[in-house]
Amino acid sequence: MTMLSVVVAAALMPMPRSVEMRGGTVAATGEVRIVESRDAAIAAEGYRIEIDGSGVKVFASGAAGFFRARTTLGQLAEDGRWPCCRIEDAPTFQWRGLMLDEGRHFFGKETVKALLDQMAEYKLNVFHWHLTEDQGWRLAVDRFPELVEYGAVRPESPAHGCTGAPWDYRGNGVRYGPYFYTAADVREILAYAKERFISVVPEVEMPGHVRALLAAHPEFACRGGLPRTPRTMNDIEEDVLCAGNDAAIRFLEQVYDEVCALFPGAYIHIGGDECPKKRWKECPKCQARIKALGLKDEDALQAWLTRHFTDYLAKKGRRAIGWDEVLAGDPGVETVVHCWREAKYGIAAAEKGHGVVVSSLASTYFSVPQGVKDDPFDYLGPNRRCSLATAYSFNPLDGMTDAAKARVLGAECCMWSECVWNEYDLAWKLWPRACAFAEAVWTAPAAPRDFEGFKRRMDVQRCCLIAAGVNCAPVE
Ligand code: ACM
Ligand code: ZN
Repeated sequence: MTMLSVVVAAALMPMPRSVEMRGGTVAATGEVRIVESRDAAIAAEGYRIEIDGSGVKVFASGAAGFFRARTTLGQLAEDGRWPCCRIEDAPTFQWRGLMLDEGRHFFGKETVKALLDQMAEYKLNVFHWHLTEDQGWRLAVDRFPELVEYGAVRPESPAHGCTGAPWDYRGNGVRYGPYFYTAADVREILAYAKERFISVVPEVEMPGHVRALLAAHPEFACRGGLPRTPRTMNDIEEDVLCAGNDAAIRFLEQVYDEVCALFPGAYIHIGGDECPKKRWKECPKCQARIKALGLKDEDALQAWLTRHFTDYLAKKGRRAIGWDEVLAGDPGVETVVHCWREAKYGIAAAEKGHGVVVSSLASTYFSVPQGVKDDPFDYLGPNRRCSLATAYSFNPLDGMTDAAKARVLGAECCMWSECVWNEYDLAWKLWPRACAFAEAVWTAPAAPRDFEGFKRRMDVQRCCLIAAGVNCAPVE
């Protein structure tokens, strides 16, 4: 690009693949004709913009491409004028996701809609909605109203300033909830997302992270005596769904029936992470299932469960996706693997033939500290660090063979909400790191990275975010 283009493209985020400045400007007003034409050769969500004295021409192969082009035109206007230019653009990855955990803290429809606006602005296109957790069940299920009756309210939360883990727990004594989404709320969010060409992947977790479910149905745990409330502490819960209980499995099938009826997207996230095997080892029903099926161990029992629900969802025309722990015990390649712990799990999954979505505890977990000066917020994993530079350098294909690369659907940044209390806290932790992520999955790795250039453009975007009321952290 020329110097001029650096100046006029100051707000572009993510940077398009190719920007060619032609000199001169045209008024970015209603008087200028924007002519949209179909060009079947352009990739999904891709577009071409040509601006000259005769007006603005936009080419795309479908509605998503025209929408992404309009977003770029919005960012390109400066002082009411567009630069004469030619832009060619298309995403590197088809899955550019952002995960929001509403189990630990609930943000509500308006915050979710604002988040969808922010995602659309930066061309993120998958909203992964983590709706069930040990600490809260946030989705009303018509057939089982008890799920929110017991699961959507907890007696208290960890107090500010403690990690909330069992060895460092202080409760705040403040009842939290009931907070949940009704089917009508979900439909409203889905419609809002659809208008922005964002698909929604709901996550209903199993077999771990189900303490809120077990508050409603303690009979689906391996042992008796559980309290009728969700977990208040953070960290990993040992009480999980009893994999030896047919009624528990039938119950979950019926929950997924409703999830599929409500959410039209191709993917349903079934969780699968952090399921300790302690209870299964002690449980006569789980051990009887292992014996009856001739399984090797408890990992194989989880794999059997993953396969069961992958097949169940496949019969409804959906693909199951699960966190990378589902690989243990070998569930079969039909399950899409969502890598999060280390790149090696994503590489192993892709090499086995699974579709893969890549997150990274090191580079895309924005719930950990970002390292800005005088940060007023608490973070999950206070000793960890994911700086803006780290987020910007993320490459989901690192270390992969060409065959493995071809199985990577894309990537996600994640916001776990143990320490995220409200929209201000949420925005501060997401932005600007989620912009760095957006550029890493839209523009890179095909185009060279330029962190200094990114930071200059991010300064402009930060002003736009703050003007829109979004509490963006400093660009450091
Ligand atoms: C996870 O962070 N437990 C997926
Ligand atoms: Zn059991």
